[in-house]
Amino acid sequence: MNAQPRRVEHQQTDKGNVPVYTTAVVEQPWASYSSEDHQVWAQLFERQQKVLVDRACDEFLENQQRFGMTPDAIPKFDDLNPVLKKATGWELIGVEGLLPELTFFDHLANRRFPVTWWIRRPDQIDYISEPDLFHDLFGHVPLLLNPIFADYMQAYGRGGVKAHGIGAEALVNLTRLYWYTVEFGLIKQRDGLRIYGSGIVSSKGESIYSLESESPNRIGFDLKRIMRTRYRIDTFQKTYFVIDSFEQLMDATKPDFTPIYAELANGESLPAGKVLDSDRVFHRGTGEGWATDGDV
Ligand code: PHE
Ligand code: CO
Repeated sequence: MNAQPRRVEHQQTDKGNVPVYTTAVVEQPWASYSSEDHQVWAQLFERQQKVLVDRACDEFLENQQRFGMTPDAIPKFDDLNPVLKKATGWELIGVEGLLPELTFFDHLANRRFPVTWWIRRPDQIDYISEPDLFHDLFGHVPLLLNPIFADYMQAYGRGGVKAHGIGAEALVNLTRLYWYTVEFGLIKQRDGLRIYGSGIVSSKGESIYSLESESPNRIGFDLKRIMRTRYRIDTFQKTYFVIDSFEQLMDATKPDFTPIYAELANGESLPAGKVLDSDRVFHRGTGEGWATDGDV
């Protein structure tokens, strides 16, 4: 048997809360979860199930049901994997924390989705700065059952390996795309805007804020525009980008990004809250409550 996997978290230093990276792939140590761990899962799961009715997009809600996850216990990766493998060929792998970029891209390019094995503590129910099991499993995994989104995630991984070879600036552009789609994307459904981004779906506060608050901008998806836009990591987003469909996302990201990276390399980035004349504006944010410190 392997040693107990580590719980690799951000570290508190004199420079603040800094991420720590780790490459290990680990067995999910399911038998070692405490009753407190299972209770944290139950609390988050039940709360988000209620919040996401009429807020998460149909594809998320329908696919989530197919896994049969329940509040009763933290799901076993081994129980989810056969469903996922059969549907789209994806596989969940256990990890100890954040992965270095290239390692992460390589997993995605091979249809392996890394899931942090450990879950947040009770005092972190409302906010944790790094991904934990709840974010990864509840937030990301349902859409991996959607064939188009499953292909998008693999294409992103391949694109990441390529961007990594091009240079740091290309990676910044590509990371913004991930942030504003996979993590914080909204989608226009026949009955209005809905959530598909995992960072929103796994947060009660941001699920409500992203759709219902007057503060943030909601702007139509535009690839190059997104690649130029900085973002927030420690507050709710100032801007959310809205896709019309997963097909649109797939089509818009199909072209080779190499010339786009070259074109953007000479330009300035945009502040997270900026609205341009060329934007397709669904909602212009009031900016109320926005932090004035820097965007990433
Ligand atoms: N088409 C992109 C490229 O050539 C790859 C990619 C696809 C990136 C989908 C993100 C999402 O780099
Ligand atoms: Co995530």
